[in-house]
Amino acid sequence: MIKIAPSILSADFSKLGEDVKKLEMCNADVVHIDVMDGMFVPNISFGIPVIKSIRNITKLPFDVHLMIEEPGRYIEDFVKAGADIITVHYEADRHIDRTINYIKSFGVKAAIALNPGTPVSVLKDIIPSLDMVLIMSVNPGFGGQKYISYASKKIKEVNELKEEYNKNLIIEVDGGIDVHNIKEVVQSGAEYIVAGSAVFKNGNIEENINNLKEAAK
Ligand code: DX5
Ligand code: ZN
Repeated sequence: MIKIAPSILSADFSKLGEDVKKLEMCNADVVHIDVMDGMFVPNISFGIPVIKSIRNITKLPFDVHLMIEEPGRYIEDFVKAGADIITVHYEADRHIDRTINYIKSFGVKAAIALNPGTPVSVLKDIIPSLDMVLIMSVNPGFGGQKYISYASKKIKEVNELKEEYNKNLIIEVDGGIDVHNIKEVVQSGAEYIVAGSAVFKNGNIEENINNLKEAAK
């Protein structure tokens, strides 16, 4: 069964609490939280206090996607803010193995995200240590961008590594997913599907999530 992970980057920040509360009743499975520092990506979103403020609003797991330089500096803060999964970018961390083990030392799931231009082969040695791999299907920084088609091939490559080295690995995909391409990413092997604009558009969260789940079949 796939899981839909709405990215709250596309929520209405003036009523963020209400939107997050709705997700649980609207068949969402995970809350995807995009943290941007204006350095690793050319945009600034929100940080630790915002995550803390919505933690008690929902029981859904928090999937925290850190688009920040040297994420190792802030892991403990994000754990305390309520993260269940912490994803760091391969490109943002010179000591990725140390950071992954550090995340896991808190009993939180650890994941690596790869930018579109980063090959899957860089994961080969570390994959047994990971709980999840996130394949970016847009260049990170903004919601509402177009799906980069070669991401599907990369998902398949991660799936091959999963078969060989880590059968419990979760494969997540993020960026430009909608009802037209969700089936392709699921068939390629993705199980956690991040969707921002496709979930929050027109304010019909429940209908949008149900349409995505239906289109994935
Ligand atoms: C991009 C973020 C994504 C993004 C997804 O940097 O990591 O999570 O918000 O939004 P859509 O689904 O609109 O591409
Ligand atoms: Zn994201």
